[in-house]
Amino acid sequence: MLLRNVLLATLIATSVAQNDPLTGISQALNANGLTAFAGLLPIVNRSTVGQGLFRTLLSGGNFSIFVPNNQAISQVPQNIAGDSDALANIISYHILQGNFTDPSGSVLGQNLPNVTIGRTLLNDSSLVQLEGNRSQVLVWGKESGGAIRILNQPSNTTVQNVTSIGGFGVYAIDRVLTIPPSFSQALAASPGLSTDALVALLNNTLITGADGSNISFTSFLDGSAVRGFTFFAPNNAALQAAQSTLATLQGNATAVQVVLGNHIVNGSSLYSTTLANTTSASGEPLTFFSNSSGSFVSSGNVATARIVATNVLAKNGVVHVIDGVLANTQSDSSAASSAFQGATSTAPQTATETGPVSNPTGTGSGGGNNGSGGSGNGALSVFNENLISSMLLVVGTIVSTAFMV
Ligand SMILES: *[C@@H]1O[C@H](CO)[C@@H](O)[C@H](O)[C@H]1NC(C)=O
Ligand SMILES: *[C@@H]1O[C@H](CO)[C@@H](O)[C@H](O)[C@H]1NC(C)=O
Ligand SMILES: *[C@@H]1O[C@H](CO)[C@@H](O)[C@H](O)[C@H]1NC(C)=O
Ligand SMILES: *[C@@H]1O[C@H](CO)[C@@H](O)[C@H](O)[C@H]1NC(C)=O
Ligand SMILES: *[C@@H]1O[C@H](CO)[C@@H](O)[C@H](O)[C@H]1NC(C)=O
Ligand SMILES: *[C@@H]1O[C@H](CO)[C@@H](O)[C@H](O)[C@H]1NC(C)=O
Ligand SMILES: *[C@@H]1O[C@H](CO)[C@@H](O)[C@H](O)[C@H]1NC(C)=O
Ligand SMILES: *[C@@H]1O[C@H](CO)[C@@H](O)[C@H](O)[C@H]1NC(C)=O
Ligand SMILES: *[C@@H]1O[C@H](CO)[C@@H](O)[C@H](O)[C@H]1NC(C)=O
Ligand SMILES: *[C@@H]1O[C@H](CO)[C@@H](O)[C@H](O)[C@H]1NC(C)=O
Ligand SMILES: *[C@@H]1O[C@H](CO)[C@@H](O)[C@H](O)[C@H]1NC(C)=O
Ligand SMILES: *[C@@H]1O[C@H](CO)[C@@H](O)[C@H](O)[C@H]1NC(C)=O
Repeated sequence: MLLRNVLLATLIATSVAQNDPLTGISQALNANGLTAFAGLLPIVNRSTVGQGLFRTLLSGGNFSIFVPNNQAISQVPQNIAGDSDALANIISYHILQGNFTDPSGSVLGQNLPNVTIGRTLLNDSSLVQLEGNRSQVLVWGKESGGAIRILNQPSNTTVQNVTSIGGFGVYAIDRVLTIPPSFSQALAASPGLSTDALVALLNNTLITGADGSNISFTSFLDGSAVRGFTFFAPNNAALQAAQSTLATLQGNATAVQVVLGNHIVNGSSLYSTTLANTTSASGEPLTFFSNSSGSFVSSGNVATARIVATNVLAKNGVVHVIDGVLANTQSDSSAASSAFQGATSTAPQTATETGPVSNPTGTGSGGGNNGSGGSGNGALSVFNENLISSMLLVVGTIVSTAFMV
């Protein structure tokens, strides 16, 4: 049975209370031809997650809602459409607090930078494990023709038109958005990123997990121990080009772990709009610059690579693909530790973000990217803080074929 039929049955069975403020929104959605989405609201309302979502929407303030059109919603598998919790979480990922229309009045930040990051309402801890329990972000960009495309989704997703309904900006889109998956699934979902050699390498790199077991680096990043990370992921060509350098690290697990750690920011999800000079998980400086050839990342004074793809979202962090290996074998564990402490102490989200996610010092509006006080879960912090020392415990040798791409 298609979702449409489920919806029809539900619509007939459910009469939305006339005094519910969401009724007006439902009616306006219907009037705009977004009937399938409007029909989902009563289903969502059956779950605790959905009721919390509606309370948030009715609590005042402006919201921006990406509304999949009828065609898009008809393709949602029935097992999801009938699961009001799953549906509520999916819909949470389509809603952002705030008005993303820029002051000039053009829609969705046409005059904002080409890539805009917005913080959605998706915060279910089983689906999002970012630092400070922040909710998941959505990334969209402007195409040369002026169309707005949601970026890094498995299918091309484009904004069809924009309407304003009360304090709600309604952006019709032609797909249902996919919630960012695990690190390895996020990379696998985009074969164009050409990062399978890296994933093979990480699959063959063992670290000691929180429980003392040996786990692959992939499982470590995919799991829930890491809350908030930025991974500069060398693509296949990068690993190929660095083959002889990497060969010199063969048999030295310490060096391999240090080099990997120099590709990671521990405890911070830095998006393209929030990249700022920082310290890697191995304690080395990570610095950024742009010129007419593109945007670059450097590790210490040792290596520089061009960033070739940005903002690949994972449930617990973000990946940027780079065209070179940051083959820096230096490390500084106390710098790594204080960088992680700094990240976790600023992570708790104290301000609601109602505009593009950007650096607090940047020129972007909204911000609210920062916070203070609070400390993370102790055990988790210790594990994260000791990421590098855990990695140093690696005894398994790196499978040579992993490097020999
Ligand atoms: C906006 O898009 C929706 C879905 O594609 C469509 O049904 C509706 O007619 C459009 N509205 C306008 C004003 O173009
Ligand atoms: C949600 O459910 C509540 C009762 O639990 C009801 O009062 C409200 O009208 C419903 N809202 C929508 C949008 O269906
Ligand atoms: C998650 O979001 C919902 C809906 O916006 C809200 O009711 C709830 O308080 C949030 N939970 C946390 C832990 O922030
Ligand atoms: C909603 O947006 C309007 C127009 O931009 C603004 O005047 C109003 O203050 C906003 N409301 C809230 C609660 O932010
Ligand atoms: C994140 O949420 C968990 C419960 O899901 C809570 O134990 C923890 O204190 C929260 N962390 C922060 C930094 O808010
Ligand atoms: C933004 O996009 C436009 C059109 O695609 C392009 O001309 C411009 O160079 C881009 N700006 C930046 C900073 O990338
Ligand atoms: C998505 O859009 C881009 C840019 O228009 C295009 O190059 C690409 O082929 C499209 N992908 C699919 C799967 O349609
Ligand atoms: C968002 O802000 C713009 C500019 O201030 C305003 O024109 C527009 O009506 C607002 N949209 C909503 C939904 O409040
Ligand atoms: C890496 O491991 C993951 C599971 O952790 C698996 O799904 C994936 O296929 C593996 N990839 C490669 C290239 O070995
Ligand atoms: C981890 O791997 C090492 C080397 O293969 C082995 O000596 C050790 O027993 C393993 N630890 C566990 C808990 O399996
Ligand atoms: C292994 O690499 C580490 C980190 O670069 C280095 O300090 C150490 O000397 C290397 N060990 C050997 C045997 O080369
Ligand atoms: C980042 O570091 C680079 C290299 O040290 C430096 O040139 C640049 O000014 C720094 N950027 C900021 C914003 O501090």
